[in-house]
Amino acid sequence: MSVTGNSNRDNFSSKFGILAAAAGSAVGLGNVWKFPYVTGQNGGGAFLLIYLACVFILGVTVMLSEFTIGRRAQRNVFGSFKTLAPGTPWYFVGIMGVVAAFVILSFYSAVAGWTLEYIVRSVDGSFQSNESLSNAFSHFITHPFRPIVWQLVFMVLTALIVAGGIKNGIEKYNRILMPLLLLFLIILCVRAVTLPNSLEGIKFLFYPDFSKITAKTVLFAMGQAFFSLSLGMGTLITYSSYFGKKENLASTAVNVSIADTLVAILAGVVIFPAVFAFSIEPSSGPSLVFITLPEIFKQMPLGSLFGVLFFALLAVAALTSTVSVLEVVVAYFSEEFKITRKKAIVISTISISALGVLASLSLGPLSSLLLFKKSIFDLLDFTASNVLLPLGGLFIVIFVGWYMRKDDVLDEVSNSGKLKVKFFPYYRFIVKFIAPLAIAAIFIYSIFFGSLG
Ligand code: TRP
Repeated sequence: MSVTGNSNRDNFSSKFGILAAAAGSAVGLGNVWKFPYVTGQNGGGAFLLIYLACVFILGVTVMLSEFTIGRRAQRNVFGSFKTLAPGTPWYFVGIMGVVAAFVILSFYSAVAGWTLEYIVRSVDGSFQSNESLSNAFSHFITHPFRPIVWQLVFMVLTALIVAGGIKNGIEKYNRILMPLLLLFLIILCVRAVTLPNSLEGIKFLFYPDFSKITAKTVLFAMGQAFFSLSLGMGTLITYSSYFGKKENLASTAVNVSIADTLVAILAGVVIFPAVFAFSIEPSSGPSLVFITLPEIFKQMPLGSLFGVLFFALLAVAALTSTVSVLEVVVAYFSEEFKITRKKAIVISTISISALGVLASLSLGPLSSLLLFKKSIFDLLDFTASNVLLPLGGLFIVIFVGWYMRKDDVLDEVSNSGKLKVKFFPYYRFIVKFIAPLAIAAIFIYSIFFGSLG
């Protein structure tokens, strides 16, 4: 086992690069459209408190566990389990991670592609046309090739960044894109809170209504925290396999979680004041972003500018996430099949895109094709979000909590004793007992009662 550093492998070169890349993976479509809506509908501030507890107790624990596995093994997600648990079936968790990456990217890239179309629509005046924005949206996503073209563009952009490697690709672009994302977000926040009546929106988001909190809400919050932090499929195992041995894993996990949560909350601060200022019903899911917001941009002075900024924000958030998901697959193919990264990138991009095209088509021309009563798109989403991710997260905490030797975990978390780790007993307790139980509860609930998010 290599614990001294693997000099042949490309690595991240700076602390900021690591933070930007890991936060880039976490901050994605999940933060910008899902979090604000889920929070608003589930008791606002009360949900937020529970969400914060989920992120900072469970999320940070699982993230630190992924970091521990990845940096210790310094391999792709499959290779990591092979290295740390040779001769056991644990590598199966790695295979699940690769499959999950494949599946997530296929439908996530479809939605990511829509953001590009909407950047164009913000400028070209499409929002002003007489067609209702909700018709325009459904015409677009059911169109036989328009969404697919954008999806492929998005996959190519993702592949180009991954092709630069870790330092000169993933790190370099995250270092540029993440500050840019923050800038867009701040501009949009300022615009939103200075709209008339913006306080109503802030209230909707933050006012704690504890009567809406049920056991289901808690599971909801946990599921959202997992997805938002990119946990459960080895994205962060893969990234941390490129971390230097001096990196403080625990503080990185805390910082990434803070950044992810902050972006989610700020996205809510952008969306809800705008929704209330223009007296629009806060509606659900994708329609909030692709139908409601364009309606607002249509009515707002300088709306095209804010529209472009908003959809560019979404595109950037999605891109830094798709990059992290593609890297899981590329690292696996290139390291396990001993092929060049270039070849691995071409193979994975083409095969994921093929599945992605099917996912896109299943919203339009292929919408009558149902498997288990779900469209291909929904089936892929369900399989990844409700089955593969929670199961992956469960195995990861069991692996670190029960399979790995305590001394090895302590050695990795403390950088071989160089860091003070007073929190270690608490971490250990959560990873052994609380996290497995909590994740098992989410898993069972979401299997039997359907989607949580
Ligand atoms: N966290 C991202 C978001 O909020 C999506 C994402 C990227 C993801 N990598 C992941 C989700 C790995 C689960 C697992 O949109």
